[in-house]
Amino acid sequence: MTPISDDDILARWKEEPAPLLPILHDFHDRDGFLSEEALRAVAHGLRIPIADLFGTVTFYHHFAREPRGLGAPRVCTGPICKMRGADALLGALDGATAMPCSGRCDDPIPVLRGHDTLVGLSGESLESRPSPLPPAVQEGIEECVFAHIREPGRASLDGYRNSGGYEGLRKALDMTPAELVQLVADSGLAGRGGAGFPTGVKWKAVADAEGHPKTIVCNADEGEPGCFKDRCLMDYDPHGVVEGMVLAAYATGATRGFLYLRYEYPETELVLARAMSEAREAGLLGPGILGTVFSFELYLRRGAGAYICGEETSLLNSLEGKHPFPRNRPPYPVTHGFADLPTAVNNVETLASVPPIVRHGADWYRGLGRGDQAGTKVISLSGDVARPGNYEVPLGFPLIELIDGWAGGTRDGHTIQAVTMAGLSGGFLAGDDLDVTLDEPSIRSRGSFLGAGGIMVFDDTRDMIEVSHQAMEFFADESCGKCFPCRIGTQRLMERLAGKEGPKELQPWIEEVVDVGKTMMETSACGLGMAAPLITNSLLKYFPEQVSDHVTR
Ligand SMILES: Cc1cc2nc3c(=O)[nH]c(=O)nc-3n(C[C@H](O)[C@H](O)[C@H](O)COP(=O)(O)O)c2cc1C
Ligand code: SF4
Repeated sequence: MTPISDDDILARWKEEPAPLLPILHDFHDRDGFLSEEALRAVAHGLRIPIADLFGTVTFYHHFAREPRGLGAPRVCTGPICKMRGADALLGALDGATAMPCSGRCDDPIPVLRGHDTLVGLSGESLESRPSPLPPAVQEGIEECVFAHIREPGRASLDGYRNSGGYEGLRKALDMTPAELVQLVADSGLAGRGGAGFPTGVKWKAVADAEGHPKTIVCNADEGEPGCFKDRCLMDYDPHGVVEGMVLAAYATGATRGFLYLRYEYPETELVLARAMSEAREAGLLGPGILGTVFSFELYLRRGAGAYICGEETSLLNSLEGKHPFPRNRPPYPVTHGFADLPTAVNNVETLASVPPIVRHGADWYRGLGRGDQAGTKVISLSGDVARPGNYEVPLGFPLIELIDGWAGGTRDGHTIQAVTMAGLSGGFLAGDDLDVTLDEPSIRSRGSFLGAGGIMVFDDTRDMIEVSHQAMEFFADESCGKCFPCRIGTQRLMERLAGKEGPKELQPWIEEVVDVGKTMMETSACGLGMAAPLITNSLLKYFPEQVSDHVTR
C-alpha cells in the first residue's frame, strides 16, 4: 500500500477545526516519529513558524523525534507503579522510556507500545486486556454515573438505550435551554475535574455570553497521578459522555464541541470514535438533532502527553495549535475560550452526571449526597489497599469507611501511614485527619482538597520522604515553565527532598521549604504551582521525624 502523502494528510484536516494535533498524529503514525521534513511540511501547510512548531512539539512527551520512536515501550512510572517495581520493568524492556502516571493505577503496571496498552509486572507477563470495571456497588448505595456501567454492552448505542440512554436528551429538548440550565443549577452539580465550580453557573455564563459559535469542551486529559475515573467512564459508558456534551450544548447554545482525550488512552479513543459515529447515524449528533433545529458537531482530539494540558486554558491553547501554556485570567473561557469565543470546559464525570440528573430530576441528585452535600463523586482509590478501583461514593461519605469497608483495608496487617488527596495535588492527609468525610468543606478544613478524587494510600512501610520526592519530581517535570515561582520553586523543593544542597540544619531547612512554598502559592499563575507545595507542607505537618532524619542524615 502506498503511504499517505504529506499533502493528503494536510488536505484531510484542511476544513476541520483544531487541526494541528490530528495532523501531527497522522505524520507520527505514518512515519513512526516526527521527522524534520514532516515538521517543515506541517509548518508550511498551517503557516506556523517552524521554531514555534518545534517548541510546541517538543513540549509534549509522546511525539517521538527519532525513527521507530512510536513503537518503543513507554513504562508508567507514576507513584503507584513505582511501588510495584516500575523501575525494574523499565530497565528490563529494550529501548523503554518512562512516562508519568498513565491512569491505570487499579491494574498492574501499564506499558504503552505504539497504539496498545499492555499491563503486567514483568516483561514476560505483559498482556493487553480491558481496563477494570468499578467494583460491585455496595448495598444500600445509589449511584449516578456508575448506575448502569456494569451492564454488558453498555458502551454500544443499543446497550446504552436499554437502560434509559438518551431519554434525558429527549426530555431536555422539550424544555427551554434556560430551564435546563436551571435544572442543573438546582441539582447542585459542581465540576468534577478539580476546581469544583458549580456547573449551572458556568453554563449560564456561556449561555449569556456574546459571540458565536459557542463551544463545549470535554476535558478528558486526566493527567493527575492517581486518577483513572474518566477512563473507566469513557471505556464503559461513552454514550453517557456524548449525551452529557449534547445536553451542555443545548443548554448553552453551543454548536460545536471537542472531546480532548489524553494520549495515554489509545483504546478509549476507538471506543469514543465508535460511540460518536453511532450517535451521528442515529441523529443524536450533527445537524437537526432528533428532528429539531438544534445542531451540534462533535470532534475528537487526542493530546500528546503534557499534564498541564488538563488545565483548561492550556487545553484550549493546545486545541488551537498554540504552545500549551496556561492563559492569564480573566478573561475566562466562558466568554473568551476556544477561538476567543464563549466556551464551557467540563470534566468527563461532570458531563456524564448530567443525563441521569435530567432523567431523574435535580432533587434526586441532591438527595444522593449526605448531609448538606449534593450528589456523588467517583473516587479513584489505589496504592496499599486490598481492592483498588473506582468507587462512586455519596459526597460526605467517611474516607475510612471507603478504605477499610469498601476497599478491604490495607494489606498484611499494616496500618495507613498517609493518603494523598486530589491525586497528588492535595498533598497528604494522615493521623487524626484521616477522619474526614469525602467532600470539599471537610477536606479543606484540614488544609487539602478533594479535587478530581484520586486517593493513593501509603501504608506504614513507605518512606514518605521518597514518596514526596517523587511527587515533587513530577510537578517539576510537568511545570510548563511560564512563570518562575513554579518553574524554580518545584525544582528547589525537589532538590531539598532529594537531599541535595540547601541548609544542613533542620530549622533553616524547614524555613526555606516553607518560604519557597508560600511564594509559589501566592504568585504562581496556575493551579500546578499553587498546589505543589501542599506536598511539602503536609509532609512537614504529619511527618516531622522523617523530615528531621532526612535533613540531619
Ligand atoms: C494543573 C492542572 C491540571 C488539570 N487537569 C485536569 C484534568 O486532567 N481534567 C479535568 O477535567 N480538569 C483538570 N483541571 C481542571 C480544569 O482546569 C477545569 O477546572 C475543569 O476541566 C473544568 O471542568 P469541571 O468544571 O467540570 O470540573 C486541571 C487544573 C490544573 C490547574
Ligand atoms: S504555575 Fe507552573 S504550570 Fe502553571 S503557568 Fe506557572 S509555570 Fe506553568
